[in-house]
Amino acid sequence: MPPSTSAAPGVRAASFRFRCIACGHVSDTASQNFRCSDCSDLLEITYPFSSNLGEKPVTPALADLKSAWKQRRLSAAPVDQSGVWRFRELLPKLETEQHAITLREGNTPLYEMPQCARITGVTDLLAKHQGMNPTGSFKDTGMTVAASFARQAGFRWVACASTGNTSASMAAYAARGSMRSLVLVPDGKISWSKLSQALDYGAVTCQLRTDFDGCLRLLQELVLRAPVYQLNSINPFRIEGQKTLALELLEQLDWQPPDHIIVPGGNLGNSSAIGKALLEMHELGLISRLPKLSVIQAEGANALVRTLREAGGKRLVSVQAETRATAIRIGNPASWKKAARVLEATGGACEEVSEVEIAQAKAEIGAEGIGCEPASAVTLAGLKKLVKQGFVKPDESVVLILTGNLLKDPDFTMQFHRGDLFQDTLGEAEVAGLQPLRRPPIVLDAKLDAILGVLAAAEKSDPVHLNG
Ligand code: F0G
Repeated sequence: MPPSTSAAPGVRAASFRFRCIACGHVSDTASQNFRCSDCSDLLEITYPFSSNLGEKPVTPALADLKSAWKQRRLSAAPVDQSGVWRFRELLPKLETEQHAITLREGNTPLYEMPQCARITGVTDLLAKHQGMNPTGSFKDTGMTVAASFARQAGFRWVACASTGNTSASMAAYAARGSMRSLVLVPDGKISWSKLSQALDYGAVTCQLRTDFDGCLRLLQELVLRAPVYQLNSINPFRIEGQKTLALELLEQLDWQPPDHIIVPGGNLGNSSAIGKALLEMHELGLISRLPKLSVIQAEGANALVRTLREAGGKRLVSVQAETRATAIRIGNPASWKKAARVLEATGGACEEVSEVEIAQAKAEIGAEGIGCEPASAVTLAGLKKLVKQGFVKPDESVVLILTGNLLKDPDFTMQFHRGDLFQDTLGEAEVAGLQPLRRPPIVLDAKLDAILGVLAAAEKSDPVHLNG
């Protein structure tokens, strides 16, 4: 394995401590369930450069950081090629960095979205596609960090509850790190392609007769009874890895922050991670102002929306979750408090979108040649609402975070185009707006004339406008 590049002088991987998000208790170790030993709330990782330790922050030299991060792109070492470990000065320090379990995650593209820009009226619209990660979702950026710490701590087993993507990612990183993995998923409520990934990567996969929230509850009990390391986003190492999405985004934008970043919300680990990264970058002086971070949920899984609207963000309002965007079918989000705080700190909004709005937005993103899974499409659907409300202005810059690959949920896409996605749930009038976006497969006799006829009809009903 090639050695990693030596960092610039004074640039070191960060030492770290655990800090309770509620009572502020700081400790060097965390318990199996990653809860505060004093008050049971969630832990976060904190560094010598953070001001929340009550000590004078130690600030690294920014020019050194930026050039070390850039320089590593030219290195052949796995930790330097990783779009996560490349930013290791803002991540917890491994005993031996060559021991990082990496699939060269991160390094995801930032795409212009001209058609969606026209649809929303927001001209400066970009999408950061986390579905281009090795297992097809943003989970890989957190998993490389948390799985590496699991192995460093000597665990043989890792486990998670999942709506599909976490389990696919965990199973891959466990396999790469020679650990066994245990997956708890809700029976019948995750897509086959995500489930098949966990099987292929050798996980012991349990389909439980409950929902995601029930799976997560059982996992919390399990980790207290068995020597199993939990890899849900309650695990603060996951959050640290997922922070790099925002670091990489800002580097791609030459450290000029966009006005808005919009992200889907499920268990609320990702929004917490992006928010933590933005606040740390701001505190360090890597960016001069904070983008507004907004979270979008499905109407049927809108716990954070209701928590903010009905309880002023003071207590969680849980819901019985139901949505075809199965990745975010979560009613009792573990990281709600962290997410509520970063929304407040950045001045972001929290909105909900309907099933039809999600399906329409997914097809519109697909028509750009990008493609994403339904949960990711809530971002575009949410942006349309935020523009209507005047929260996002047409001349502001916006980045949508697409969290999962189109191929993660082919059933949804097929049903949409065939026209039976909402067959049992909605009436024809309610789905009429989706009709122009449908492109069902056409079964024909194997004759040239038949194909020419289809071509002519398609050109007539939907002419191609080059450069249009
Ligand atoms: N988008 C996708 C594609 C997801 O898989 C998830 C969560 C989210 C958005 C929401 O992110 O939970 O950090 O707010 N999927 C989890 C899983 C829960 O088990 O794969 P979040």
